[in-house]
Amino acid sequence: MLIIWFLLFIFLLVSSSTRTLEAIQYTRGNLQILNQLALPHETIFEPVINVQDGHAAIKTMKTRGAPAIAIVAALSLAVDAYARLEKNEFKTVEETKEFLLSSLEYLKTSRPTAVNLFDTAAKFTALVDKVQGEAKEPKDLVQPIIEAAEKMLIDDVQDNKNIGKHGAEYIVNNVRDKSNISVLTHCNTGSLATAGWGTALGIVRDLHRNNQLKHAFCTETRPYNQGSRLTAYELVYESIPSTLICDSMASALLRLNPSVQAIIVGADRVAANGDTANKIGTYQLAITAKHHGILFVVAAPSTSIDLSMESGKEIVIEERPANELVTTTGVLLDNNQSTAVRTAAQGINVWNPSFDVTPSELISAIVTEKGVAVKQPGLNEFDLKSFLS
Ligand code: MRU
Repeated sequence: MLIIWFLLFIFLLVSSSTRTLEAIQYTRGNLQILNQLALPHETIFEPVINVQDGHAAIKTMKTRGAPAIAIVAALSLAVDAYARLEKNEFKTVEETKEFLLSSLEYLKTSRPTAVNLFDTAAKFTALVDKVQGEAKEPKDLVQPIIEAAEKMLIDDVQDNKNIGKHGAEYIVNNVRDKSNISVLTHCNTGSLATAGWGTALGIVRDLHRNNQLKHAFCTETRPYNQGSRLTAYELVYESIPSTLICDSMASALLRLNPSVQAIIVGADRVAANGDTANKIGTYQLAITAKHHGILFVVAAPSTSIDLSMESGKEIVIEERPANELVTTTGVLLDNNQSTAVRTAAQGINVWNPSFDVTPSELISAIVTEKGVAVKQPGLNEFDLKSFLS
């Protein structure tokens, strides 16, 4: 009996140390997303059965993070179309095409800044256009869309693993002191923002796994607290030595702690010259990185690069509701609403841009799954067109 208890204990120990965090659970016809509004208090998975659910999950930020937004949008279309096909709801190829294209247009209206969503919508629209000529029945249009959405889920994890590897190598090779590397990250770019592993946080994971990381610092990331609620959760979950700071402490940290030799952030949209839209507060971190002479690294899949935009001036920045800034989230109630605590004077005006644009001159490197883009000596801008060609 004792032996059985011992073996059970070992099994639980091993399975808990290898468990991976995932925010998107999918099998064909079935999609569940982790409601990130409830974290870190509760782990609630919610079904997404159609494009309306997908749109709402993205708009309310139950799902967030550029890659995850695109993947959930694509998978919501996949499960919706799958269910309609099963129920024989599509009568003609033309009707199926109309449903797929109008759904893609609708999903694009959920959030404006992360280019991954628009990139996916463009690719899926092109796919519908490509296969429609040969399509004899609705399934001939739906099947390729389902397969393309499912491929995104798999490819994203592999892309993130490559980003992690390239980014960790770049950092180790470019810091002053390889034996004393701590990093600071902003927002949440980990498993919760992607299909798994993460982009900037994937690099942190790689450094940690390679025993090259002394310590990770993460910002609180006001006003939505992706850092304190989500990144801190992931760092604790992975047992990575880490410390939370609030956004206004970053410069003091860099001044007082010389082991912090890199700031690593994600991206929502990178223009052709390297200007990068990312979570509000990224720009001020890049300024303080430059002032303190440390690396400022952007990590993102190549699908976050928007070559149609020459510079960051063209990027549309989402503005979010005032209540996110004047309240802090309290306890989550049974009805899935949370008790909000007001922290600002009634009547005050609020400006709440969700993102800012960091100019390329402040960025040391842009790490993608394809490798690391750097600027030519003497230039302030990246040439991402050549990098991707
Ligand atoms: O508003 P959010 O939480 O969707 O913003 C997320 C970010 O800004 C991330 O840094 C970015 O999307 C990259 S996630 C891998």
